Amino acid sequence: MSDFYNLLVQQAEALVDGVIYPIANYANLSALLYQSLPEINWAGFYFIQDGKLVLGPFQGKPACIEIEIGKGVCGTAVFRNETIVVENVHEFPGHIACDGASMSEIVIPLHRNGEIIGVLDIDSPVEGRFREDDRLGLEKLVRMIEDKNKTRE
Ligand code: SME
Repeated sequence: MSDFYNLLVQQAEALVDGVIYPIANYANLSALLYQSLPEINWAGFYFIQDGKLVLGPFQGKPACIEIEIGKGVCGTAVFRNETIVVENVHEFPGHIACDGASMSEIVIPLHRNGEIIGVLDIDSPVEGRFREDDRLGLEKLVRMIEDKNKTRE
């Protein structure tokens, strides 16, 4: 993995280390991602609640509050329980546009004790913004969050 993502994961870990408040952690993580990643226009979390995805802490323009499992990029990532990288959101059937400027997107499922609890969603105004290195780096960041979640009550 690149030095950029090694450093980002270290910074993220330092931010959440010893903090027991999930909302504070997800808010800080979305701020760190938004400030650190070039060419992005939205970074944040959706969590599964009442059988659908509900908007969590994020940075960027106001976004849609509820997404059905199986719908949009986020709901599809949950349905498949796998990372989805979309080069051009206009070519993704059912893509939900929150910011008209978004051109590409990466959505990574987030688990707690092996069970899917939500997603990390990042949008970019640049087509094809998220490459293999971004996927590996962001998945490592999500695995770090999952490790911290394990020890949380
Ligand atoms: N584009 C997402 C919706 C969430 S916004 O990008 C913040 C989707 O299709 O699920």
